[in-house]
Amino acid sequence: MPTTPSEDRAVLTDHGLALDEGLPETWTALAADVLRGLTDEHKHLPPKWFYDARGSDLFDQICEQPEYYPTRAEAELLSAQGSAIAKAFPARELVELGSGSSTKTPLLLRPLMKEGTLERYVPVDVSASALGQAQRTLEAAFPGLLIERRVLDFTTQLHLLGHAPQGGRLVAFLGSTIGNLEPVEVQAFLAALRSQLGPGDAVLIGTDLVKDTATLEAAYNDAAGITAAFNKNVLRVVNRELDADFDEDAFAHESIWNPELERIETRLRALGPQQVRVRSLSLDVDFTEGEAIFTEISRKFRRETVAELYTAAGFELTDWFEGNGVYGLSIARPV
Ligand code: SAH
Ligand code: TRP
Repeated sequence: MPTTPSEDRAVLTDHGLALDEGLPETWTALAADVLRGLTDEHKHLPPKWFYDARGSDLFDQICEQPEYYPTRAEAELLSAQGSAIAKAFPARELVELGSGSSTKTPLLLRPLMKEGTLERYVPVDVSASALGQAQRTLEAAFPGLLIERRVLDFTTQLHLLGHAPQGGRLVAFLGSTIGNLEPVEVQAFLAALRSQLGPGDAVLIGTDLVKDTATLEAAYNDAAGITAAFNKNVLRVVNRELDADFDEDAFAHESIWNPELERIETRLRALGPQQVRVRSLSLDVDFTEGEAIFTEISRKFRRETVAELYTAAGFELTDWFEGNGVYGLSIARPV
């Protein structure tokens, strides 16, 4: 059902943090993150600020790069195991965190519709533009399905989801986005998620698995330079929103495998000494040559580490689907 602009707004107002909505609290959160991140001894910027409309679009392009295997691996797994997943948990409601353009979601929606239980799909993201596009596409493809998008930050605002009184809620978290959270953040995230779920609910989480360094590093250093553009997009966001003067050509994209911590570490490295002005914060930031801004981690998993994370947060891993050791999908239920 097409919505008028005012209805559209109503769906999107619940404390949304989307950059592309232009809300004052979004700006304040960005300002606080940038102030903290660029004045710390080791500079860092939180990954959610990658995803304005351009960033979401670049992410979709990353997913189509030949080197970026996780999206294809997860899609293949969902195609092969979608009906097994739907039979293991015939959901009444599918909530998807960090749904973005929801490109893989039909692979889950179709088998769930087939089970005859699914009533509602709730995509959740900080990118209002990605959510709006996804809603239009999915409404056309699934006419009988109720779609209620929510602009929420899944690291701080999960409580706004509320409970599913009748149970039957499946919370999907795909794309190995859980790997972008620091270990303490993952624990807090899973605990917050657990507190929104009842005994009749479940989660479905996609996790990229540990593999050889060459495959991993290639996935985050595509030859077409899309990941580099995506990484540098956070500088454009800061320039635009906080009136800063980052020169994106003065920074190099870097994604390196850390074998001890089993994660890809993505940074922006200053090519030379420079000073950046962030006018809205009256802040001057000095960079030495080679100094880095930490922008993202992409942790890689093993089945045992996934099971441990669930256990620590009050879940039990009940179903594990794996494609050739490349990628894992797991269902876990509250204990
Ligand atoms: N699920 C999609 C997209 C993954 S990219 C896929 O598998 O391809 C990560 C998505 O999470 C983006 O759409 C981004 O906008 C969203 N995101 C990142 N941080 C977020 C946060 N803190 N809260 C809500 N959404 C977030
Ligand atoms: N969840 C994705 C991942 O970790 C996000 C992502 C893909 C990403 N490519 C990236 C994040 C490059 C930062 C930089 O694979």
